[in-house]
Amino acid sequence: AYNERESLYIVLNYAKDFFAQNLSKEEGRAIGLSYFKERGFNQDVIEKFDLGYALDGWSHLHEAAKSAGHSDEILLKAGLILQKEGDPKRMYDRFRGRVIFTIHNLGGKPIAFGARILTQDKKQPKYINSPETEVYHKSDVLYGIFQAKKSIREKDNCYLVEGYTDVISMHLSGIENVVASSGTSLTENQIKLIKRFSDNITVLYDGDAAGIKASLRGIDMILEGGLNVKAVVFPNGEDPDSYARKVGSQEFQDYLEKNAQDFISFKIGLHANEAANDPIKQANLIKDVVQSLSKIPDPIIRTVYIKKSAALLELDEEIIQTELNKIYLKGK
Ligand code: UTP
Ligand code: MN
Ligand code: MN
Ligand code: MN
Ligand code: MN
Repeated sequence: AYNERESLYIVLNYAKDFFAQNLSKEEGRAIGLSYFKERGFNQDVIEKFDLGYALDGWSHLHEAAKSAGHSDEILLKAGLILQKEGDPKRMYDRFRGRVIFTIHNLGGKPIAFGARILTQDKKQPKYINSPETEVYHKSDVLYGIFQAKKSIREKDNCYLVEGYTDVISMHLSGIENVVASSGTSLTENQIKLIKRFSDNITVLYDGDAAGIKASLRGIDMILEGGLNVKAVVFPNGEDPDSYARKVGSQEFQDYLEKNAQDFISFKIGLHANEAANDPIKQANLIKDVVQSLSKIPDPIIRTVYIKKSAALLELDEEIIQTELNKIYLKGK
C-alpha cells in the first residue's frame, strides 16, 4: 500500500497526463492548443512544461480518475476536485474549461496546477490555482525551478519573473535560468531554494506599479538572504512575455544585459525625476537606499555597496554609515 504523499504524487501525475492528453481531443485542440499556439508556444515547451487543457464540464477529470482507481478522498486532498458544502455527494472538478500550467517540484514531480481562463471575463479570476496540500506548500515552491536549475547553476544567475507565461516565453527566447514567484511576494524559503544553485538573482517584474512595488520588496528580501540582486525595469505595461514577443529573442536578451541595474541604481532610477530638484525627496531616496543597505548581512559586501551608494548619491561614506548606525541602534 502507498502512503498518502505517494498517492498524492500518483494522482497529480495522472491529472497532468489527463490534461496533456486533452490537448489532442477535439475540444482541447480547438480551444486549448490553439490558445497556446496563438501565444507562440510550440510543441517543445508544451511538453517541457506539461501544459494541458481542462475540459469544460463538471466531472471530466473526476470520472476518468475514478475509473482509473483513484479515490474521491485522494482527489479531494490533491485539490483536483471540490465538494459542495452540506451535500457530501456533490463533487466537481476544480479546473474547468481552462488551459493548464503544471507546477513541478525540484525533482520534476507534478505537485499543483495553475489554470488560465481563455476569455477576458472580468467576473472570473484570470488564474485558478491548486490549494495548499500535503505536497504543495506555495511559499516553498518556484514555478519553473525543475526546468531551470541546471541553467541557473551554469549561468550562475537566476531571473525571477512574476508569471507562468513569462517563464515559458523566456525559454522560447533561449533563456532557461528563470523562475516565477507566481504573483505572490517572494519568501525566505524561495530565496533559499535559488541559493542552492546561485547567489545571483535578477528581478524581472512587470512594468507596472504593482510590479515595481513587488520588485522593491523582493530586492530587500534577497539582500537579507545574503544574495546579490539586480533588477530590470520593463516599459510601462510590458512583462517579460509580452516584451519578448514584441522585440524578439535577440533584442530581448540585449535588453536584459543593458538594463540590469544593481539595487542602488534601480532605486535612484525610480526616484530620479522627482528627487532631482526636491531636497526632501532626495533625502527620502537616500534613506530608502540606506534601508536596503542595512539588510545586507555580510559586512564586506555591505561596505562595497556603501562606497557605491556614496558615489552614486554624491555623499560622504560617513554620512551613510551614520544613518546605518541609527538603523542598527533602533533594531536593538
Ligand atoms: P499577471 O496578471 O501578470 O499574469 O499575474 P501573466 O502571468 O502576465 O499572465 P498572462 O500573460 O495575462 O496570461 C502574474 C502571475 O500571478 C498569478 C499567476 O501565477 C500569474 O502568472 N496570478 C495572477 C494568479 O495566481 N491569479 C490571478 O488571478 C492572476
Ligand atoms: Mn507538509
Ligand atoms: Mn502583473
Ligand atoms: Mn504579467
Ligand atoms: Mn503576461
